[in-house]
Amino acid sequence: MKGLVLSGGKGTRLYPLTYTRAKQLIPVANKPVLFRVIEAIQEAGITDIGIVVGDTAPEVMEAVGQGDQWGVSITYIHQEAPLGLAHAVKISRDFLGDERFVMFLGDNVIQGGIKGLVEEFRQSDYNAQIVLTPVKEPQHYGVAELDAKGNIVRLVEKPREPRSNLALVGIYMFDHHIFEAVDNIRPSWRGELEITDAIQWLVDHGYRVRPYIHRGWWIDTGKPIDMLEANNRVLLEMSHQVNGYVDRDSKVDHNVTIEEGAEIINSVIRGPSIIGRNTRVVNAYIGPFTSIYHDCLVEDCEIEHSIVLEHCVIVGIPYRIEDSLIGRHVEIRRSPYKPKAYKLTLGDYSKVGLL
Ligand code: G1P
Repeated sequence: MKGLVLSGGKGTRLYPLTYTRAKQLIPVANKPVLFRVIEAIQEAGITDIGIVVGDTAPEVMEAVGQGDQWGVSITYIHQEAPLGLAHAVKISRDFLGDERFVMFLGDNVIQGGIKGLVEEFRQSDYNAQIVLTPVKEPQHYGVAELDAKGNIVRLVEKPREPRSNLALVGIYMFDHHIFEAVDNIRPSWRGELEITDAIQWLVDHGYRVRPYIHRGWWIDTGKPIDMLEANNRVLLEMSHQVNGYVDRDSKVDHNVTIEEGAEIINSVIRGPSIIGRNTRVVNAYIGPFTSIYHDCLVEDCEIEHSIVLEHCVIVGIPYRIEDSLIGRHVEIRRSPYKPKAYKLTLGDYSKVGLL
């Protein structure tokens, strides 16, 4: 089998972070979501992986390279515009050939990986396998309606009035019949060739599509709140390790990872949390549910339930920082200069919650 990862799109709901960075490269528990996706595919025994890239192609290619760090081989497929998931399949035809494949959206995080799923599909004679999971707000997703026997009746993309609470998870398995399907559907109201419509086409034409109901957690990291939620989930499940330096005046919980070169001085770190490579934490309180990426300085402040990206400097903040997603190279400092005022240099679409 082959793998197909989708890593295009603009990530508008994650502005301003995604003005300057592909959403799939934002880290969850200090590892880009896209890397987690590649790892999940590799763990399922698939080493030939295509990545569909768009406007952010250069940085995705620079971060992932040829796939050597995972022992896989990566082929990049350029999509000229975000014309839909089914369009991405269409343009990947040369890469995929006649092989069965798993398609994984590069911003999805799923509990337990996909090894079992891929194995079941590999050994079956299904033409496609989709993953469904109950969600609270199905209208934001592709939604499946099943009959009493559990067969797929209908799939609708973002229905106004959902017929069930079963959302399509961004992980799909197909054989080559999907190419016939994507050639026979028309763009949706949002101007995209929807994979949901292509799967409906398979069902309508008598192909065997198996719905698999996923019972664990799954997160589509579209919005800041989803990133924080994914961060919580992954931090809770990972095995933690201290590889950096912790001084005698600090208290670090057992479910905390301190990466190499990090220094914790006179601080309290509540787990689950992770402190990145070469980051310095001084006189601070961090966690729980906090990921500080590499090369940051966090001093004289408190940060909880947050993600801080690389090269940030956060010093001398009198109130606790919570529920925050802080981009790269951000500086937040207490200023000694008069007038006593907030002095902000914020990117477009930034959001700041002041006391
Ligand atoms: C896409 C699919 C949708 C699926 C979702 C999962 O939506 O079209 O069916 O439920 O991914 O993440 P999009 O992210 O394009 O809005």
